[in-house]
Amino acid sequence: MKNITIIGTGYVGLVTGVGLSEFGNKVICVDINQSKINDLNAGKVPIYEPGLLDLIRKNVNSERLFFSSDIASSIKESEVIIIAVGTPQSKNGSADLKYVFDALDSISENLNSYKVIVTKSTVPIGTGEKIITKLKKKYEDNIDFDYVSNPEFLREGSAVKDFLWPDRVIIGTNNEKALQIMRDIYRPLYINKNPIQRAAVETSEMIKYASNSFLALKISFINEIANLCESVGADVHDVAIAMGKDGRISDKFLHPGPGFGGSCFPKDLEALLSLSKEHSVTMETLQAAIKANRNQKERIGEKLDRLVSGGIKGKKIAILGLTFKANTDDVRESSTIDLIKFILNQGGFVNAYDPIANESMAKIFNDIHYFDNVYDAICEVDALVIMTEWNEFRALDLNRIKKSMRNNYVLDTRNILNMKELSEQGFVYDNIGRIKI
Ligand SMILES: NC(=O)c1ccc[n+]([C@@H]2O[C@H](COP(=O)([O-])OP(=O)(O)OC[C@H]3O[C@@H](n4cnc5c(N)ncnc54)[C@H](O)[C@@H]3O)[C@@H](O)[C@H]2O)c1
Repeated sequence: MKNITIIGTGYVGLVTGVGLSEFGNKVICVDINQSKINDLNAGKVPIYEPGLLDLIRKNVNSERLFFSSDIASSIKESEVIIIAVGTPQSKNGSADLKYVFDALDSISENLNSYKVIVTKSTVPIGTGEKIITKLKKKYEDNIDFDYVSNPEFLREGSAVKDFLWPDRVIIGTNNEKALQIMRDIYRPLYINKNPIQRAAVETSEMIKYASNSFLALKISFINEIANLCESVGADVHDVAIAMGKDGRISDKFLHPGPGFGGSCFPKDLEALLSLSKEHSVTMETLQAAIKANRNQKERIGEKLDRLVSGGIKGKKIAILGLTFKANTDDVRESSTIDLIKFILNQGGFVNAYDPIANESMAKIFNDIHYFDNVYDAICEVDALVIMTEWNEFRALDLNRIKKSMRNNYVLDTRNILNMKELSEQGFVYDNIGRIKI
């Protein structure tokens, strides 16, 4: 059991804090956002993540999990300090490390005893070395710390499960003592199997970028295959299933859709591309994945405009699903943002519904209409677009919807609606890469 401080209580920091306390450690989650800490101390969870609330309650009650805005004393009390702040994209595409270095300043001001300093934020290759150099320069040799890169691979929407049962845990360090301490904090994980892989700091940093870039590449690839399927009369669903049966390919991330979004893939690809340029290494595949994704996002608006007879000018469109994927409240870089912009630019009107994220999207678009359920949102609209694969959209009452809509156009960008039923109900529909029935 270790005393741990986690700096940054966002999607990653909070789930990590909860997970590590569940593993038996004493964890303090700190944040500069006082209202977030107040909410957490009042039993409110600032993000939507299945299973998180129950685990927070359990570990708070067991006095293993704490929330605080007193960053200085939390650091002083802890042996392991984990940096989990945001690393957004800066103007030139590279990762903006401002928050990481602010967090590091808090750490360096409070280094009262030996500590393992861990970066869980996704940071460009070479950042760990810069952190070590900065700390050593400030303290010369009169300071006892070790550094670890421990990137996070959780997915929003299944973050708790991903953290508690990870495919792998990367511990990037050249130091045996730090390695042992990290193994201790993750101890329950390797009682049955051992997901822990040790690496050099730079290698660990690269593993995170390479993994995210590869997954994004896979999505862009299947989206482009789906687009070609539409032109040549092939069905992407059958293609993806057959491809996925090949163990060398795997069936994961082979679902065509409206383009990837979220707080990670877009910025991580740009950051890796920016780093490759800095080192004069050409990475055509990364550029292609980014460009294909931009094209895919544009393509959704164009598809809708083609589907609706006479185009979408003056038409009312219901958008179901606002988040970049199901089971999260995160709308960052969601393809829906591009679609809403497109509809408004074309002179159309938007009715929006998301089971969780109306409020988050209202911070971006406050001039569209938000509804509390599907059936109010689709009332008297000309077209319906599914943008997120929320479970509740998989079993819509199409008969009721047809009666309530003014017109009969449906664009299913997640391929979750039953095409036979859509046809039988008399909808004019489109999706991504399927042979229409
Ligand atoms: N969200 C994901 O699915 C995911 C998955 C894997 C890795 N990551 C990476 O993890 C990192 C964090 O991502 P996130 O989505 O959790 O970010 P987030 O924006 O949800 O949370 C970051 C938190 O850090 C806090 N913060 C910023 N500066 C601080 C400081 N100096 N001291 C204390 N708190 C501070 C902010 O107030 C915020 O609450 C990023 O590098 C991201 O790329 C994210």
